[in-house]
Amino acid sequence: MKVLGIVGSPRKDGNCDVLVKKFLDNVEGDTEYIFLNEKQLHGCNACMGCVEGDCVIDDDGNSIIKSLLDCDILVFASPIYYGQITAQAKAFIDRFYQISRNPEKSLESKKVVTIFTQAQPENVFGDYIDSFKVMPFGFMGMEVIGNITAMGTQDKGNEEELEKYIEEVKDIARSIKL
Ligand SMILES: Cc1cc2nc3c(=O)[nH]c(=O)nc-3n(C[C@H](O)[C@H](O)[C@H](O)COP(=O)(O)O)c2cc1C
Repeated sequence: MKVLGIVGSPRKDGNCDVLVKKFLDNVEGDTEYIFLNEKQLHGCNACMGCVEGDCVIDDDGNSIIKSLLDCDILVFASPIYYGQITAQAKAFIDRFYQISRNPEKSLESKKVVTIFTQAQPENVFGDYIDSFKVMPFGFMGMEVIGNITAMGTQDKGNEEELEKYIEEVKDIARSIKL
């Protein structure tokens, strides 16, 4: 089993980063960790070049997509910025386009665990977070099998604020058997 952790926060050792690493440390199988903000990752150009093969943009997008195609489980994490995911996380998702346009590539039946962090202590983004089951993941044939929303987290990687979410992450990670 291959598990790919994608961190969409720009904060190294921030809340998403801590939670994704805890997940990878507690799951069975081979793991890969990608911190998007350290990658060159352009938004989709909508040039349709990918209909013929790989994405034509000369950046890290194709290698990130290759890791995604190779994994069984994706752990996708983003903080909430103005009620949405970060620009880095959105660029990653938009680059899925090369998979949806190419019949030789598929994310069908891959499992996803989502992790969101937010300063607000109430579940005000619940509907938005739920929508990821449908778009983009459901649309790509992937199944969201778990979610952790770390509410009331603001300071960078504050273990006290994160304590109960770290336990949730560990529980989900340890429960995964393929
Ligand atoms: C540009 C920006 C916008 C933010 N917008 C929101 C928001 O709309 N709602 C919220 O609850 N928190 C918001 N936050 C706070 C982060 O979501 C919160 O600090 C989160 O725990 C950061 O996770 P990280 O450490 O993984 O980056 C925002 C933070 C930044 C930097």
